[in-house]
Amino acid sequence: MPGTTPTPEWWRGAAIYQVYLRSFADGNGDGTGDLAGLRSRLPYLADLGVDAVWLNPWYPSPMADGGYDVADYRAIEPVFGTLAEAEKLIAEAHDLGIRTIVDVVPNHASDRHAWFREALAAGPGSAARERFWFRPGVGDGPPNGWQSIFGGPAWTRVPDGEWYLHLFAPEQPDFNWNNPDVRQEFLDVLRFWFDRGVDGVRIDSAAVLVKDLDSVEESYTDHDDVHEIYREWRRLSDAYGGRVLIGEVWLPDQERFALYLRPDEMHTAFNFDFLSCPWEPAALRRSIDLTLATHVPIGAPATWVLSNHDVTRPVTRYGRRDTSFDHADRKHGMPSDRELGRRRARAAALLAMALPGSVYVYQGEELGLWEVEDIPDDLREDPIWARSGHTDPGRDGCRVPLPWSGTEPPFGYGTGEPWLPQPAGWRDLTVEAQQRDPGSMLCLYRSALRLRRELLGDGTMTWLPAGNDVIAFRRDSGLVCVVNLGAEPVPFPVRGSVVLASGPLGQQDGGDLLPGDTAVWITEEARLSAYPQTLVPGAQSSTSG
Ligand code: GLC
Repeated sequence: MPGTTPTPEWWRGAAIYQVYLRSFADGNGDGTGDLAGLRSRLPYLADLGVDAVWLNPWYPSPMADGGYDVADYRAIEPVFGTLAEAEKLIAEAHDLGIRTIVDVVPNHASDRHAWFREALAAGPGSAARERFWFRPGVGDGPPNGWQSIFGGPAWTRVPDGEWYLHLFAPEQPDFNWNNPDVRQEFLDVLRFWFDRGVDGVRIDSAAVLVKDLDSVEESYTDHDDVHEIYREWRRLSDAYGGRVLIGEVWLPDQERFALYLRPDEMHTAFNFDFLSCPWEPAALRRSIDLTLATHVPIGAPATWVLSNHDVTRPVTRYGRRDTSFDHADRKHGMPSDRELGRRRARAAALLAMALPGSVYVYQGEELGLWEVEDIPDDLREDPIWARSGHTDPGRDGCRVPLPWSGTEPPFGYGTGEPWLPQPAGWRDLTVEAQQRDPGSMLCLYRSALRLRRELLGDGTMTWLPAGNDVIAFRRDSGLVCVVNLGAEPVPFPVRGSVVLASGPLGQQDGGDLLPGDTAVWITEEARLSAYPQTLVPGAQSSTSG
C-alpha cells in the first residue's frame, strides 16, 4: 500500500510471499528465474495482496544446494542479476507497499567461499581453519560418527589428511561460531543488507549453529549458547529501527522453540508443527492450541505455514491417505487424489489465513500447483537425491518453475527451457487461466488476502463449539472461520453472512450446509455487510444457524 504510515510491527499480521527466485520468472531466457523476472512480476504480487516477499538465497553460489551454499554474502549470483538490480527491486517493491526479506545462511558457507579456500590453503593449525571445524581423523576414519542431514557422513577429508564438518552437503562447510571472526562477519553482512533497505532476514537452519564436537552423540541442535548470537543480532536490528528476524527453527519441543522468540531475540519463527500436521481435526486443533500457548505468553506473533521450498506441495500432501509431513519420509510416489488434495488445500488456506498472526505463501501455492513427482532422474538437482543413494528424490518436485500464461511449457515463465521441466497439465493452472476463473485457487487466495487485511485486525481467537470433525473459531474482529474435515455436510455453528468459501456450499431447509473438506468465513457483524457478494460459486449470503 503506497504511502501508508510506517507500522513498526508490520510483521505481526503480515502475509509474506516466498519467492524461490530460480523458479519464479526468467527475464533473460536462460531457463533460470532472475531479478529481472521478479521485478517484471511485482505488480502481480501487489495485486495478490501480500505485505512482503522473502527471497531464498540470491548470492553467488555454485548451487550445490540451490543457493544455500553461499560463496559471497555481499553480492548477487550473476545468473540472477546484479547488486544494482537487487537495490532496484527493493525500492520498486517498497513503492508497491511490499517489504523485502532476504535469506541469511549462517550455519555454513559454500566450499568456494574465500574463507574456506583460504583455510584449505593455510593448512592444519592455521587461524584460517579455526573459522570452520577442521579436525584430524581417528585412525583412517572421521573425527566422530556424525551423519549429514542430507545423508552420508558429516565429515569430508581434505588432501592434507584433516577432516571438516558439514551438517549438510560436503560443499557446505560449517562455520565455527566460537570464532570471533565468524560473529563479526555476520553482523557485518546484516549491516550490508540493512543498509540496502531490506526489511528483515530469514535465518536459515537457525538452531544448529553451535556444536559440541566432543560429544559422542550428534550434538548440534539447540545448544543454549546459540541464543547469544541472536541477542546480538537483535541489538543490531533494533539499532536499524526494527528489521525483522525470522527464524527457521525446526524443534519439536515448543518450550525450547519459544526461547528463540524472547523479546530480545528473533521476532518470529516458522510454524513447522502446523505445516507438518495431518489433515485431521483433532490434530489441527491441537497444533493451533499449542502454537498459541507457545506464542501468546511471550508476546510473539504466531506464524502459519502450509508450504515452502523444502516440503511436498499441499495439493499432493493432502490428497494422500497419510496427510502428515515428515522430512525423513517424504512419501514420494504414495498415491494422491489430486482433486481431494485441491479441495483440502483450499480449505487449509482459509484456515491458515484466518488464524491470528502472520501467514506465509510459497510461490505456486496460490496457483494450487502439485508436487512434480516424475522429474527425470538425470535432471534432479537436490543433493538429497544423490546423498540418499537415490532412495529419496528430494525437494525438486516443489521447485519447478511457475506457469504464468499460454497453453504449453514454458508457460510464459521465460523464453528458454526451464531448468526443471513443467508438467503439461499445468496449462489449466497458469496465472492467466486462473485470473479469468472466479472459482480458481488464485482468486481464492486473492480474495482471502484482501479480506484478511480488511476484516481480521489484531487480537486473538476463541473456539466455537462444533462437531468433532469441525474446526470453528471466532476472531476478535467478529470474523468466524469454520472448516469441516469430515465426510458429511454440517450446518453452520453460527448465524451470519458468508464472505468467502473454499468451495460450493450445500442447502437444507433454507439454510447453508458446509460440505466436507470445505472452509467458510462468516461474519456475524453488520459492518461486514459491505461484503455480501458471492465470491465463490455456490457460496451465498446465509442466515442459517
Ligand atoms: C534450510 C533450507 C534448505 C537447505 C538447508 C541447508 O533448511 O530451507 O533448503 O537445504 O537449510 O542450508
